[in-house]
Amino acid sequence: MLTEYFAQNLEQMVSKIAQHGVCVMDHFLPPATIVELADEVISLSVISKMQVAGTGRTHKTINKDLRGDSIYWLNEAEATSAQQVYFAHMETLRQQLNQDLYLGLFALESHLALYTAGTGYKKHIDRFKGSDTTQPQRQISCILYLNQDWQDSNGGHLRLYLNPKTETPEPLHLDISPVAGRFVMFLSDTFYHEVLPATQDRMSLTAWFLTR
Ligand code: OGA
Ligand code: MN
Repeated sequence: MLTEYFAQNLEQMVSKIAQHGVCVMDHFLPPATIVELADEVISLSVISKMQVAGTGRTHKTINKDLRGDSIYWLNEAEATSAQQVYFAHMETLRQQLNQDLYLGLFALESHLALYTAGTGYKKHIDRFKGSDTTQPQRQISCILYLNQDWQDSNGGHLRLYLNPKTETPEPLHLDISPVAGRFVMFLSDTFYHEVLPATQDRMSLTAWFLTR
């Protein structure tokens, strides 16, 4: 079920995490799978199954100023065929990360996300330093973009701040355009990042590998 391209690039992706803590890879899944996942976001939105995303430990606090997306949590037991392709690749990636970097990643939590035009997600980090270490922790953030024919002028970049763990002074950053098939992975406790508003709806499949 894995693409040859993915299999050929797997070790390099993991070594980029080891070296830089960040990795960007295009053509992560077959183009047809990306189209199917995007269609699923649109269908879920039409039937009102995409839910306004929250923030904070319980994910219950809704703060539209901070974060404007709607999300749908995936359940691997009920995965569609396109989601099964995604999960198969992510499972292989998890095993390779554990094998090469001894990360002890044991699970993946994932959701589809839809940012309607004009919305974004302000600068944040996916794991806070003071978080409860008796709970599973987000170790690696993974985002797969689903936007066909996306132009740079549409905005919606993921702005990844490259000065690890510091919020100030205003650090170097990388702006990543959310084009279909692009996959971004980074250490959850290290990199502040934000989603810049776009001129069009912006779709993604976002996930976190967890450690204990
Ligand atoms: C997140 C997030 C980035 C993106 O959901 O926590 O930062 O590019 N997403 O969608
Ligand atoms: Mn984030």
